[in-house]
Amino acid sequence: MLILAIESSCDETAVAVVNDRREVLANLVASQIDLHRQFGGVVPEVAARAHLEVVLPLIAQALAAAGIAPSDLDAIAVTHRPGLIGALLIGVTAAKTLSWAWNKPLIGVNHLEAHLAAATFAFPEITYPYVALIVSGGHTNLFHVPAVGVYEKIGGTLDDAAGEAFDKAAKILGLGFPGGPAIAAAAERGNPAAFNWRDACLPRKNPRDFSFSGIKTGVLYAARGLAGRRGELLLDEQGVADAAASFQFAAVRALVKRTVGAAREKGVRWLAVGGGVAANRALREAIKVAATKIHCQTAIPPFNLCTDNAVMIAARGIEMFAAGEFADLTLDAAAR
Ligand code: KG4
Ligand code: ZN
Repeated sequence: MLILAIESSCDETAVAVVNDRREVLANLVASQIDLHRQFGGVVPEVAARAHLEVVLPLIAQALAAAGIAPSDLDAIAVTHRPGLIGALLIGVTAAKTLSWAWNKPLIGVNHLEAHLAAATFAFPEITYPYVALIVSGGHTNLFHVPAVGVYEKIGGTLDDAAGEAFDKAAKILGLGFPGGPAIAAAAERGNPAAFNWRDACLPRKNPRDFSFSGIKTGVLYAARGLAGRRGELLLDEQGVADAAASFQFAAVRALVKRTVGAAREKGVRWLAVGGGVAANRALREAIKVAATKIHCQTAIPPFNLCTDNAVMIAARGIEMFAAGEFADLTLDAAAR
């Protein structure tokens, strides 16, 4: 079984060709990071236009790289939710059109489910039930997954997503965009105990949830003083590194504490992590160490399958193909 997968929910246009033996025949990602950097964040309208320019050439390139013709395909999978609506519409419209023109079944994939499918794709030996953490720019949620395709939400952020907090903290600290890798790099040179934000992301009244908006304010006041956003940067280079390290320490600590706590409570043998923030080295290492202590194995995808890509869309698409979960040409994009 051969599947073509398309992803365009945010600022990456991605196309992959994958077969059901988990062989990746093509995996292309056209990133718009340079385009959005001048604005300090993703501009939805700019993103949609950029997707439109590259999506068809990228599909042609992926088929060529895989050495296949459209007639070899068994299905087309596409992200249809959640994400930026204009961006999603480009991928969905391309997939629907090709599904019609090439007479191939269409599969509408949920982007968050796909982030988790990246973990099971990379670790096919995983056993159910497992506990899963999705940490991306738009979402931070904990799930209990009793079987393929069944997702029970057991916790999540009460406000900002973790990736969003990395991005905003980086902006406040003058570290640029995207913030996750910038904070991680600065944190290497900093002291994680310099600022005490240890418990900032752990809402006391909600023992399964996260909160990432308070720490952002903590970073803002530490970096810009009470003048807030309009203030000048008060920290020198070492101070910025210390703030980045303290921020990362607190965010990682919260993510690990809640995830491992949920795994212990549910008595699962496996812990899966997906989403862009799962590319964070400190998080990956801390989760592995903590999981080992409760005799849990970890399924954390390789770096390139953590941030947005289309292999994960194919991975979820293959599961849905097996379950007979097809869409038709009424498939629509949905922001939430
Ligand atoms: O999954 P993703 O690529 O897109 C969404 O679905 O949102 O996640 C993007 C997020 C961004 O907020 C980015 O700053 C964050 O993942 N990120 C990281 C790292 N690499 C990407 N956060 C922390 N450390 C990283 N190394
Ligand atoms: Zn994502």
